[in-house]
Amino acid sequence: MVEAPDDDFVWWKHGVIYQVYLRSFQDTDGDGIGDLEGVIRRLDALVALGVDAIWLSPFYASPMKDFGYDVRDHVSVDPVFGDLEVFERLVRAAHRRSLKVIVDFIPNHTSDQHLWFRESRSDLSNPRRDWYVWRDPAPGGGPPNNWRSEFGGPAWTFDPGRGQYYYHAFLRDQPDLNWREPRVAQAMEHVLRFWLDRGVDGFRVDAIHHLFEDAALRDNPPNPDWREGMPEAERWLRIHTIDQSEVHGPVAEMRRFVDSYEDGRILIGEAYLPLDRLMAYYGPAQDGFHLPFNFHLMSTPWTPRAIADLVSAYETRLPAHGWPNWVLGNHDRSRLASRLGPTQARVAAMLLLTLRGTPTLYQGDELGLTDVPIAPDQVRDPWELNLPGQGHGRDPARTPLPWTAGPGGGFTTGTPWLPLGPVGPETHAEAQAADQTSVLAFYRRLLAFRRSSSALTRGDYRPGEVTARTLSYDRCWRDERLRIVLNLSAEPETVAADGDLVLSTGRLIPRRMGRISVRGGEGVILRLAGP
Ligand code: GLC
Ligand code: MG
Repeated sequence: MVEAPDDDFVWWKHGVIYQVYLRSFQDTDGDGIGDLEGVIRRLDALVALGVDAIWLSPFYASPMKDFGYDVRDHVSVDPVFGDLEVFERLVRAAHRRSLKVIVDFIPNHTSDQHLWFRESRSDLSNPRRDWYVWRDPAPGGGPPNNWRSEFGGPAWTFDPGRGQYYYHAFLRDQPDLNWREPRVAQAMEHVLRFWLDRGVDGFRVDAIHHLFEDAALRDNPPNPDWREGMPEAERWLRIHTIDQSEVHGPVAEMRRFVDSYEDGRILIGEAYLPLDRLMAYYGPAQDGFHLPFNFHLMSTPWTPRAIADLVSAYETRLPAHGWPNWVLGNHDRSRLASRLGPTQARVAAMLLLTLRGTPTLYQGDELGLTDVPIAPDQVRDPWELNLPGQGHGRDPARTPLPWTAGPGGGFTTGTPWLPLGPVGPETHAEAQAADQTSVLAFYRRLLAFRRSSSALTRGDYRPGEVTARTLSYDRCWRDERLRIVLNLSAEPETVAADGDLVLSTGRLIPRRMGRISVRGGEGVILRLAGP
């Protein structure tokens, strides 16, 4: 096998990405909402954790109906988060520490307060009239077809001024841009340029599978598997509203543009799709995303067989030039430690950080945070507000980080925008940093070991034994061979392995060579002897 030259082994292949959900990371001005200054203040904590890049959730001027995913002005910073000067300071401060900065890019929709939409809706003679997806009412009146919003209700809203409906995959306050209008692509390229020129190292591209809808506006067919109690949006198969093949054109344009900059800038795509559909987002010839986010670990049953099959399926389908990546949590999903419990959350972290490919961590998972219950009068998430009590609420996974002891947990001196979970010596970062048995200390050890190991950052993945309780695989690079054994059950199990135990999700107890007993809920990394 021919080895890639080392300069091809770029930062985003060996690095670990850390998602900063800005509103809940660190507040510095006492308004209860995290800000860019707060990120600067905590950069050293991220260096100590051992990550390589931060991805910042949107900080652009926004009415915050969807907490920044409704952009009013793509090239300005919302005052709640700071200003352009602070942003530029943040980029410099991060780069001084060898941390890369990835920002959110939201091409599918804007806020209804964006100048483009205000012009587009103003009248039919406006030059921006076609920048959004407008249609006449259906012949008998009412919306043009049966498409539904992801957040509940119809995806069409009537605009009395224009006498037409506009399409919105998400909130009515988030009209979809019309990517069949070439000037939209040009305008969005200017947005990319603006931030690239300010030194960002790449973009996480939001909701990319929503970029186009069927031009003929055909109705989505009913989902035969839909049952009462399932989300309303799943009542129809979204064959005409997501993952249309036209999407790959603009993605290739974005890629070409980003690649025209030096220093390995990166494009990450957010698309919740089955594996075979997802792989198309790499592009046929390195002309798609560097990393189309792989979310499948978040939805696959937590059993050794299911996880082993997922990894094999993913590795097998990956295009020859495609670099893998894995995700265990984000601001849209229930927290890892709530989904799997505290013990298996550590095992999952070991899985994430020892699989082949780039891992993305979600802030707070390194502290073992769990979903925080949100009382009905504290709900902020528009999805939950639209469809209360149906389990869509994303607030529980978005609560502020506890940094130190005290009422605001060191997050804020004011009233936090969402309540913090318990702030105790078990949870806050300062106490965890001083306790070798804490989740944070475990993450630091794991990340430090990963950084030191070529087998983990660039080695082969070799599937191993799968039992009812455990999942094993090897990672190998030249003469470095590691075996990872993860016990997904609560019962101990003995596995064959001739090697040295280098890391455990729990206490590192030296164990007999040749065979190793893995405790229930334990994951271990062994260095194998011999070739
Ligand atoms: C993405 C974001 C989510 C947002 C949605 C609409 O899925 O992660 O938070 O609500 O896009 O922009
Ligand atoms: Mg769209």
